[in-house]
Amino acid sequence: MRIDLIAKKDWTGRVLVGLMFEGDKTPLAMAGDEGKRHAAVAAGEKFTGQLKKTSLLRATAGSDKLILAGLGKRKEFELDRVRSALAKAMKRAEDIGAESVGLLVPDNREVRGDIADFVGAAVEGAVLSSYRFNKYRSPKPDEPGPVGELLLVLANPRGLTGAMRKAVAEAVARSEAVCFARDLANEPPSPKPPEKMAEIASGLAKKGRIAVRVMHKTELEKLGMGGILRVGAGSHQPPCLVHLTYTPAGKSKKTVVVVGKGITFDSGGISIKPAQGMENMKDDMSGAGAVLALFKWLGSVDVPVTVHGLAPFAENMPGGGAQKPGDVIRHYNGKTAEVISTDAEGRHLLADCLAYGSTLKPDLMIDMATLTGACVIALGDEYSALLGTDQHAIDRLISVGLKQGEFFWQLPLPDRYKSHLKSKIADLKHIGKPRVAGTIAAGLFLQEFVGEGIPWVHIDIAGPSFTSEERDYTPAGATGVPVRTIAAFLREL
Ligand code: BES
Ligand code: ZN
Ligand code: ZN
Repeated sequence: MRIDLIAKKDWTGRVLVGLMFEGDKTPLAMAGDEGKRHAAVAAGEKFTGQLKKTSLLRATAGSDKLILAGLGKRKEFELDRVRSALAKAMKRAEDIGAESVGLLVPDNREVRGDIADFVGAAVEGAVLSSYRFNKYRSPKPDEPGPVGELLLVLANPRGLTGAMRKAVAEAVARSEAVCFARDLANEPPSPKPPEKMAEIASGLAKKGRIAVRVMHKTELEKLGMGGILRVGAGSHQPPCLVHLTYTPAGKSKKTVVVVGKGITFDSGGISIKPAQGMENMKDDMSGAGAVLALFKWLGSVDVPVTVHGLAPFAENMPGGGAQKPGDVIRHYNGKTAEVISTDAEGRHLLADCLAYGSTLKPDLMIDMATLTGACVIALGDEYSALLGTDQHAIDRLISVGLKQGEFFWQLPLPDRYKSHLKSKIADLKHIGKPRVAGTIAAGLFLQEFVGEGIPWVHIDIAGPSFTSEERDYTPAGATGVPVRTIAAFLREL
């Protein structure tokens, strides 16, 4: 989608979008008689600015069509409502075959908060809701195509500031990174084996200040990355580890390591999963996909932080060489773990990477993983779990996430549950007690591989990474959570 900012006097389009608070007399940026008239016509069709409702008005002065989209009650306003409203408006525009849409941008007397944030959220709502994964579909003849252009129309040309243009560019960069993450996770499992993922990651190093190193099987053997190797051993597709590095243009203020689980398909391995819903296990690389997406984003922005991305890729399959329940895996830091279920595979990849990442001496390490079904039971499909040792970072992620419309909830990491991971034959058992605090047990397992004193946050995205139904500005399928939150978090560091 092409996106631009223009002054109202230069706008020549045919479909205009206006946003409206419930109960207001006029839409935003359309005060006076014209706005009152439109609001009255819309009210005749029961539209009074209700959240997620729209109204299509015809033959208006200066445009052929006006789409009003509701923001709900003024006192309940939050930025995420702008994204949802834009999603509805763009859908309506798509339905009437609009190729270009102009959005009336309010000024900062009309809405609470920074208008640049408002515009950023509008852009995100439009781009993210227009996402489609059509690579493997034949087009239907009568299907409306997505709107190709969004023009942000400012009544006052003095509003066209550098800050405003920057907010738009940043929202575009964040949204494109999310769409990239969605593409990776929506891709069927067979066309995206570990080596293919590494190839895609390597492509990211062509832009900006990004370097990449791919560690293939022999190198992983030399390094002693038993977790990645053993999990990948049941597949014909060899595992690998991608290490991306972003170096800022100016002085680096902090070093952050981001790690993501990259299981390109999780069959469960020898502890094979039930058939029902197994097709969704193509998204078990969403954590690693988020790492790649963050580097796509880092290729187009400038942040004063050194960022290392670790994306271990493996296919969890029950082949002849596969790891077995009862096996003991030796990880990068030397710690051994007894395998109970080969379906609890993700933590072994993460264990190697957290130990390896610790040698990079980061100020913060964040891992993201579709790690436990227990997390979906506990928090459902819209909340990710946060666990870790850096309370400040956890609090920041929760509040940054709220602004982004991505939701996080903290779970404890109590020493008293460490006993759940006792093994008789290895340093650790890789899972806790059956059906007891599965997400926490996984977190406690990972903690064993984080270097002494290194602040760390684990994000379990098992619920939000994928949605079976379309919601607000997220089409069904891979969601791209938590790319926007981590990007915004790194931006604010
Ligand atoms: N990839 C799954 C977790 C998962 C489940 C993600 C549902 C998204 C939706 C993970 O590898 C897994 O299978 N975990 C097991 C662990 C168990 C054996 C301790 C689980 O949660 O059942
Ligand atoms: Zn699994
Ligand atoms: Zn898995």
